[in-house]
Amino acid sequence: MGILTNFIVFEGIDGSGTSTQIDLLKKKLAGRETENRFVFTCEPTGEATGRFLRTILSGEEAAEPETAAFLFAADRWEHLYGKNSVVKALNAGKTVISDRYFFSSLAYQSAACGRELPKLLNSLFPLPEKLFFFDIDPALSLARIAGRSVTEIYEKRDFLEKTAAEYRLVIAEYEQAAPGMKIIRLDAAQSMEQVSRLIWEEIGA
Ligand code: TYD
Repeated sequence: MGILTNFIVFEGIDGSGTSTQIDLLKKKLAGRETENRFVFTCEPTGEATGRFLRTILSGEEAAEPETAAFLFAADRWEHLYGKNSVVKALNAGKTVISDRYFFSSLAYQSAACGRELPKLLNSLFPLPEKLFFFDIDPALSLARIAGRSVTEIYEKRDFLEKTAAEYRLVIAEYEQAAPGMKIIRLDAAQSMEQVSRLIWEEIGA
């Protein structure tokens, strides 16, 4: 599997802090000369595929877990190769930082419908150069998201515990099988500031 240079992804269960850290990183970059070298993206995307996925995540539309696995992969294709794509930005010399990538499917969809289908669908995608894994006890991440007004279908204790276990397996597997991709494991139970400092040491500019 190829590696996309300058493509960086943040991964972790709900409440592990990936979105918060992306916001902090944007703030730290604001006003710097290097600011416009960075492009921030996320999955599910804001494209039609991602918007449809959001209706499933909110519970507004029902879908089989396997259907969701296909949809996440379709949305990922759009993310990588569509009109506002990662590959276009990389080719323009940018560093792209994404909140979630296919490791989310290997964790969440494996927890939802078994490992075979997510593995098959996601074997199509190139690896990022760096992966930040926000490792956290699901009990703590659940406590963090308990205060949110909107909850999604995956934000349930049993499911997140299963997903957290899948994530750890997936990360361990890639540490062995993909030495070309740098995996940075963060203890996501640390304070926001501590985690932010570690991320900045790795990609700050
Ligand atoms: P999330 O990043 O948590 O978005 P937000 O914080 O805006 O709700 O992503 C939404 C949910 O989608 C989250 O529960 C993880 C799930 N998800 C998958 O199950 N598979 C995937 O491949 C991706 C990208 C996300």
